[in-house]
Amino acid sequence: MWCRTTDEDQRQRGTGRQTRQRTPRTAHGTHVCKTISRDGTHRHSGVLSGVVCPPPIRPPTSESFAIMPAQSAALRSSVIPAVPGPTRLRLPDLLHITDQDADDVLGGRYDHLLPAPGIPTRDRWFTRLHSNDELDVWLISWVPGLTTELHDHSGSLGAMTLLSGALHEYRWTGDQLRRRRLTAGDQAAFPLGWVHDVTWAPFGAGSSHVPTLSVHAYSPPLTAMSYYEITERDTLRRVRTELTDSPEGQ
Ligand SMILES: [Fe+2]
Repeated sequence: MWCRTTDEDQRQRGTGRQTRQRTPRTAHGTHVCKTISRDGTHRHSGVLSGVVCPPPIRPPTSESFAIMPAQSAALRSSVIPAVPGPTRLRLPDLLHITDQDADDVLGGRYDHLLPAPGIPTRDRWFTRLHSNDELDVWLISWVPGLTTELHDHSGSLGAMTLLSGALHEYRWTGDQLRRRRLTAGDQAAFPLGWVHDVTWAPFGAGSSHVPTLSVHAYSPPLTAMSYYEITERDTLRRVRTELTDSPEGQ
């Protein structure tokens, strides 16, 4: 990659993801990893505990307003609202939505949106599952050899649930890239300012021809992404911003 990385797989196994398990299923020529159903009574707490990001964000209250240390009279009177996101939806909501939609994909609700010949094995593929003013949800496939580039999601919160296969996520921590591995059933959340690259990852013998499938939700719907490079001084440099109607660096 562009810079030194650290493998935080082991560390993340304990704290950085939620694992959900599903029933084995093969659809449209694409092998969907073996999984088993999860107890729904654990769904909510599991989602919250799986967020790889700051603690759950609550609507602003009087206590959540921060008074800026003043250098001037104007600043002394300034109050900066703690704005967790631009819509009513929060990261736990998005995690829950991708969880539900992943179940729906596996249950066949969206079979009509899948390509008739099967999910492509050499090219990225995606389809929008549903959307409204506050939210859009996508089914995305990932294949070996392609990356998203290092990017953010502009002003959108994001979350994902992995249906099958595995992914590597390279997240910019402020001074380095950290890698984590996500496998079928895992979830991840992307707060504002999250900068990462995502790539397909091997998940067993013969997996190199099997796309990884994941469901992603963004709020508000994704309309722009910025791309970054890491400088020789281990700093992040934004190199371009693009308007987009497609998810994850497509
Ligand atoms: Fe992304």
